[in-house]
Amino acid sequence: MNKYLKEYKWSHIGAMLKNNKKDPKVCSEDFKGRLLVISGATSGIGYETARLYASHGADIICINRNREKSEKLCNELKTEFHIDCSYILADFTRLQEVHAVGKRLVELDRDIDVLMHNAGVYLTKKTFTGDGLEEVFQVNYLSSFILNYLLKEKLSAQAQARIIYVNSEGHRFAISGLHLDDLSWDRHFYTGAKSYGSAKTAQLLSMYPFMDYFKDSDVTINAMHPGDVKTNMGENNGKIYQFFKHNLINPFAKSSVLSAEALYYLGVSQALDDSNGKFYNFTTEERPAPHALDEELGMRLWEKSLELGGF
Ligand SMILES: NC(=O)c1ccc[n+]([C@@H]2O[C@H](COP(=O)([O-])OP(=O)(O)OC[C@H]3O[C@@H](n4cnc5c(N)ncnc54)[C@H](OP(=O)(O)O)[C@@H]3O)[C@@H](O)[C@H]2O)c1
Repeated sequence: MNKYLKEYKWSHIGAMLKNNKKDPKVCSEDFKGRLLVISGATSGIGYETARLYASHGADIICINRNREKSEKLCNELKTEFHIDCSYILADFTRLQEVHAVGKRLVELDRDIDVLMHNAGVYLTKKTFTGDGLEEVFQVNYLSSFILNYLLKEKLSAQAQARIIYVNSEGHRFAISGLHLDDLSWDRHFYTGAKSYGSAKTAQLLSMYPFMDYFKDSDVTINAMHPGDVKTNMGENNGKIYQFFKHNLINPFAKSSVLSAEALYYLGVSQALDDSNGKFYNFTTEERPAPHALDEELGMRLWEKSLELGGF
């Protein structure tokens, strides 16, 4: 019996459907000389978000896996917006590389104003990384946990910082919750939707222990759904998925420029100074699925993440 079922309310689903139709709020405050650190800025939502922050004067450090695309992006942002842009290479399927990024960022001699966890994958076939972990969990969740964990002292010593998870309404696919005792999907049937939903659920659950850690500082942590937008997400899957994506998803998908507007609002707007531990659909606060509100599981996930993350 699914222990979360009794907490479901039709009104929550209704709110989500209504929120899906809204445009994001726009923030016109500038961000000159402040720093955005963002993962996965070489494509889709991350690319548009880096551009929008740069257009408002922000300096950017991207965490990307592809050197050529990173060079191109930084040259573009520097030339067009006259800001500082640099990149650190890391493939999130390799935990060692994620740790190395964290160490580089800890040594930065300036504040990180916004730390945005955006890199992500959707895999229809169960895949394991060289670290022996299921790839979607490692790339979408564990890597962001490791970066937060390594940076927690630096961030809390700053006057303020905002951590933002580019999460997803897809967390709702993990309808029976996160199977902390079966992260390799040995005893549960793997599907792309369920693994993606589980990894996004893990991000949402991790907000509880991080909020607790940051409680005496001005560091906030929030998550958001960036809209259903047309990007490269899922393009690495097989022909059946691609057919489904190109014919049934893409024709109704919005532009990732809207996701960037929302992520700028969430990272910069003073209206959100006190927002902490919230989930937003674009810029509308929304109640996540019941399984993403299981605080006790969030605390157990913290322990498991420390173990899997090599701490
Ligand atoms: N598109 C949507 O409708 C939608 C909806 C809800 C949530 N999201 C979330 O939005 C975020 C951005 O996705 P997107 O839609 O913009 O997709 P995308 O165009 O595929 O961008 C994904 C980014 O993540 C990077 N990445 C993928 N695997 C990586 C790895 N192993 N190590 C390091 N970086 C890696 C990609 O790098 P490369 O350029 O090298 O491939 C790219 O920069 C994801 O977290 C996704 O779950 C998207």
